[in-house]
Amino acid sequence: MASTAERKERQEGDISSVFSSLSGEAAVELPARFGELKRHIIGDESNQRALIDSWSRLTKRLGQAAEEIDRKKQDCIPQIAFDKLTSPSSSSSSIKAIKATGAFVLKDVIDRRVAEGWLTEVEEYIKANPEVKGFPKDDKQVFELYWSKVQLEARSHPRALEVQKSLLNLFNPSGSGEDGDVSTKVPLSYADRLRIRHPGDAKFALGPHADGGSVERWEDPTYRKVYERVLRGRWEEYDPWQIVDRVRAEQNMYDGPGSCGVFRAFQGWTSLSSTAPDEGTLRVYPLLRELAAYTMLRPLFREVSPRSTLTHSEYLASSNWELDFESTAFPGSPLARCQEYNDITHPHLELERTMVSMPKVEPGDQAWWHCDMIHSVESVHKGTGPSAVLYIPAVPLTTQNIRYIKDQRTNFLSGRPGPDFPGGVGESQFKGRGMDGDITNKEGRQAMGLEPFELLPGLSEGEQTLRRTANEILGF
Ligand SMILES: [Fe+2]
Repeated sequence: MASTAERKERQEGDISSVFSSLSGEAAVELPARFGELKRHIIGDESNQRALIDSWSRLTKRLGQAAEEIDRKKQDCIPQIAFDKLTSPSSSSSSIKAIKATGAFVLKDVIDRRVAEGWLTEVEEYIKANPEVKGFPKDDKQVFELYWSKVQLEARSHPRALEVQKSLLNLFNPSGSGEDGDVSTKVPLSYADRLRIRHPGDAKFALGPHADGGSVERWEDPTYRKVYERVLRGRWEEYDPWQIVDRVRAEQNMYDGPGSCGVFRAFQGWTSLSSTAPDEGTLRVYPLLRELAAYTMLRPLFREVSPRSTLTHSEYLASSNWELDFESTAFPGSPLARCQEYNDITHPHLELERTMVSMPKVEPGDQAWWHCDMIHSVESVHKGTGPSAVLYIPAVPLTTQNIRYIKDQRTNFLSGRPGPDFPGGVGESQFKGRGMDGDITNKEGRQAMGLEPFELLPGLSEGEQTLRRTANEILGF
């Protein structure tokens, strides 16, 4: 096994370094090359015509969608039973709903009493180690904890791994890439934080954002290829479930503090509490294709007349928008941060009424959202109990991801945070942290890079090669 992590360690800190809105940064003008990039994407006259038509169809659709979402609220979010997702005969209507929405609640993944026990146990771990870092500093709720025994158990729980495999399986692994770029059969364990939000809290209010970088979506040619249909004026044909270009894309060109060293197909959390809308839960914009199309087209257009001179509907009308050949503006896309959204930068989304809170979850339920998803956290927790979640994503096997897992393993063994997270000694001196021996099942150990992947007969040649490469990277 490797003994030293090759990545540069990040500065000590907490989650506020990740979001420009949490850290209070002002918007910064992008360099001139972003104007050139924009003109390059807008392309020739025929592409320009296609983009203008496409923008008109999309903004009309977003107007209808806003009405629909505002009316249906939580009913926009599918609530799926564990078996409906994981059994081979999984109902196609559930899968269709997940694919159109891009976010959903999965019920009863972990036994309720087990999940409640996890919350008690993790609270004891925090009590035993009062020096733990967190946000906000004076009333910690998002903890710099990665290696509690509870987190190790939740990440390697057989039902959790089964869910992650089923989610990866929703993606199309072929597409334009080579067989062997990605395995949707093998989930990896990405060690993220946990949050225990207190009733009344209004500080951990993450505004609407999308993970996976900001300007990288346009600037990196492979990342841009994911959205090629959109950028050719055919957003209705864009398939959010093609995975190959996504896994090869560069999501972190500026080494941002919030960047993610792995490709996460889905972000998710496992709830340890009973949490309803208005109790500090997650919000999403529940139309996956539409939100990605708008994200990608938005910087190519600019307003003709400012908002102050028009009615709301006149301002949003496609006739009030034109292609932008001049500016370097990529609204809500600061370098080295995640993509952020608000009513000024992305007015057609009408976020005030379209960001929908997750339906009520119980201990042991999970919430999941696709890697393109616009998501936020409710600004105020008006409930009476803790709103507690363990962040556990679905991460497929790729060579880039396994390199991260190798470095993460080094940090795990010494109790330091994974390479993506604020550095320092972390939990290395903490009482009762989880160790290698606490992960006992084979799949859970493989997901952490603690055991080699099997080269089973019947796997495709690409899958075999990828597993062999992964084993070599891990030193097996
Ligand atoms: Fe996020």
